[in-house]
Order: sequence, then C-alpha cells, then structure tokens
Amino acid sequence: MTKAENTGDAGERAPNSRVFKEEVGDEKIRPLEKGYIPIEQSLKTLNRRELAIKLTSSANVLDRKKIHSGKVVVVTGSTYGIGLAIARRFAEDGAHVLLSSRLQKNVDVAVKQLQEEGLSVTGIVCHVGNREDRKRLLTKALEHQGKVDILICNAAVNPFVGPLMETTEEMWEKVFHVNVIATFLMIKLLVPHMPKEG
Ligand SMILES: NC(=O)c1ccc[n+]([C@@H]2O[C@H](COP(=O)([O-])OP(=O)(O)OC[C@H]3O[C@@H](n4cnc5c(N)ncnc54)[C@H](OP(=O)(O)O)[C@@H]3O)[C@@H](O)[C@H]2O)c1
Repeated sequence: MTKAENTGDAGERAPNSRVFKEEVGDEKIRPLEKGYIPIEQSLKTLNRRELAIKLTSSANVLDRKKIHSGKVVVVTGSTYGIGLAIARRFAEDGAHVLLSSRLQKNVDVAVKQLQEEGLSVTGIVCHVGNREDRKRLLTKALEHQGKVDILICNAAVNPFVGPLMETTEEMWEKVFHVNVIATFLMIKLLVPHMPKEG
C-alpha cells in the first residue's frame, strides 16, 4: 500500500498533486485529464480510488459524445438559469435545441451565446401561458426536422414568497395558470409530434 492509500487523503493523490506526479509520472497526467489512458495501463498505474474516478469521468466524456444526436429538444424558459443549463447540456450532447422565453432580447442573447459555443440552437419568444406563443413555438420546433423528441417544461413562476395565508387569489391563479395549466397544454400540444419510439 502506498503512503497516499494509507493516509486515505484523496487530495494528495489528485492528478495534479505532488504525490500523484511522483508516483505516476508527469507524462501520464495530461492524457489522464483528457480521459484517454487505455484501461490496461490504468489498471497497472492507478489505485482503486483513482481508477474509480477515471472510469466515472471517462464514461462521462465518452457517453456524452453526441448521445442526443438527431434529437430535437424544446426547453421552455431557457434563456438563463436552470433552463439555459439544461438546453446547453442537450446541445452539447448533440441535440438541436429550441430555446425560448418571454423576452426577445433574452432569447437573442442566449441563442448567440450557445451558437458561439458551436451548438445547434434556435430561439423563439414564448410565454408559456400564452396560447398563440405556444403554437408558434411548436411551428418553430417542427421547422428543424418535423418532430419534437424531448420537451422540458422548465418555465414556471413563483410570484410570492411568504406565508401561504398571505397569498392573494390573483397570485394563486397565476401559479396555476402558468405552472399547471400552461404546462399541461404545452405537453398536449407537443406530444402528438413526438416519434412513437420516444
Ligand atoms: N432556482 C431555484 O432554486 C428553483 C427551485 C425550485 C424550483 N425551481 C424551478 O426551476 C425552474 C427554473 O428555475 P430558475 O431559477 O432557473 O428560473 P429563472 O432564473 O427565473 O429563469 C427562468 C427562465 O424562464 C423564463 N421565463 C420566466 N417566466 C416565463 C414564462 N411565463 N414563460 C416562458 N419563459 C419564462 C426566463 O426568461 P424571460 O424572463 O425572458 O421570460 C428565464 O429564461 C423554474 O420553473 C423554477 O420555478 C427553481
């Protein structure tokens, strides 16, 4: 057992650490970071913890290579925040992603940003609570390949944060209109355009 295994200190054996460089050698570190050391070599040079990390990160690198290639993904509320992160990840994984939100300027910024990253995205204004916007979103999504494979209903509102008893009827109606009814109607609109195999 090596000194590092004895101490059980993961930091000491991290790929860029002094202990790792001394034991494994600097020349093997760069390919490891890219996840390209052949598995036979890894079995000889890495301890169990490093091997587990390598296998996990290699799987991520390899599996993420275009696993959604050919898919069309619609993400609502996707011009910033969690929705944009979801959209970026699908696009990185090979999908064509339709970005959308209420404000044209937010759509423009997000589309430009992801296109500059080399990702296949388009965008459209869509307030999910607006019937005409939902229809336009569907038309735009179908422009790409005439189908939608995945719908992520990310857009939602939370107009009031505080005690339930202080929530007004208008706020409650807005929550149900946008988060519940509009989400249902969006699903109802898009699902018929999804390939049967899912
Ligand atoms: N962040 C959290 O801690 C948290 C926790 C629990 C649940 N969530 C839920 O997770 C989702 C994403 O959260 P987030 O924090 O990333 O939200 P966010 O920062 O508020 O981002 C919302 C995104 O949705 C768009 N948007 C807002 N209202 C919309 C509407 N009516 N129709 C279409 N697009 C709309 C916004 O752009 P525009 O302004 O241009 O419309 C933006 O692109 C939301 O459903 C939120 O309720 C978040």
